[in-house]
Amino acid sequence: MTSSIDVPRPAPVRSGALREAATGSNPYLPATARIMRVGHLIQDVRLYDLRFHDPALADRFTYRPGQFVELSILGVGEGPFSLPSSPTRRGMFQLGIRRAGKLTTYLFDHVSEGDEVGIRGPFGNGFPVERFVGQDILLSAGGLGMVPLRGLLQYLIDLRPHFGRVILLYGCKNPDSVLFREELLGVQRRGDAEIHLTVDGTEQKPWTGNVGVVTDLLEEIEVDVNRTLAVACGPPVFYKFMVEKLTTMGFAKDRILLSLERRMECGIGKCGHCAVGYTFTCLHGPVFTLWDALNLPELIYE
Ligand SMILES: Cc1cc2nc3c(=O)[nH]c(=O)nc-3n(C[C@H](O)[C@H](O)[C@H](O)COP(=O)(O)OP(=O)(O)OC[C@H]3O[C@@H](n4cnc5c(N)ncnc54)[C@H](O)[C@@H]3O)c2cc1C
Ligand code: FES
Repeated sequence: MTSSIDVPRPAPVRSGALREAATGSNPYLPATARIMRVGHLIQDVRLYDLRFHDPALADRFTYRPGQFVELSILGVGEGPFSLPSSPTRRGMFQLGIRRAGKLTTYLFDHVSEGDEVGIRGPFGNGFPVERFVGQDILLSAGGLGMVPLRGLLQYLIDLRPHFGRVILLYGCKNPDSVLFREELLGVQRRGDAEIHLTVDGTEQKPWTGNVGVVTDLLEEIEVDVNRTLAVACGPPVFYKFMVEKLTTMGFAKDRILLSLERRMECGIGKCGHCAVGYTFTCLHGPVFTLWDALNLPELIYE
């Protein structure tokens, strides 16, 4: 096993200073990216393959798993989206987007392959992957929480010899709402990671995985809590039960990492939309240890 990995460090957080962005020295200014491909993940969730118009930027653009970008459409709006792709696969990047409101509905209905959008970023801290070296990694996701964790999973697989066991627990409402289903089954078949899928109910759809809530999956696996880092991403109710379960299993609070979303605007610590006290989710997060998040309970459960 090699002991160091090459991963970009997030720009340092300096009070009052603007966050640098790989897309340009002015972090407010979006760079143009072309939509190369639009894939259908599940109903109302699409996977966009993007490439920067500027070849030099396309080449140098990198990020760490767990960071996000701001996608904009001129005259419509802008919103933060996680990167479900891995920086180990250079030249292009992906976004997994759910139809929610004004911006995303416009994107779904009026923007297609070959069209261009604005991208600023990457922003946020991302996962502390240097800490992952030599450790077992337990990923758990609920629903759309799989989007950022898919980027991390790809990263762990691409740099597989650096890490111990890689385990994914992923729970969804029903078989039709499982993101990246075929891809995850492929990962499992190849033995790149231990994949455990579950749904709340099959609704009479074909399904070979588990039925039940995602925390039930923890009953089926054995982990050494002293050499495992747990990473969780999902809706608020998911955190409530997952954190309770992991803590009961004996995970230390600094070995539980949560990727948390707040309403965001600027992404660079200026507008205050994502602030909880003095913590800016866009700068200091979206990844927090449970230790940090416990001091800011509204971060998890609001
Ligand atoms: C760090 C971060 C990463 C994100 N990653 C993804 C991602 O990978 N894929 C994805 O589909 N979405 C992601 N989101 C949520 C996404 O930013 C919003 O869904 C999007 O901005 C909505 O824009 P809109 O104009 O289409 O909807 P709006 O018209 O703004 O709102 C439509 C509905 O969505 C709700 N909404 C808007 N923003 C958020 C938010 N941040 N969190 C929860 N509910 C919201 C509103 O309350 C409203 O009910 C992320 C958000 C953050 C903060
Ligand atoms: S989104 Fe503006 S300060 Fe965080």
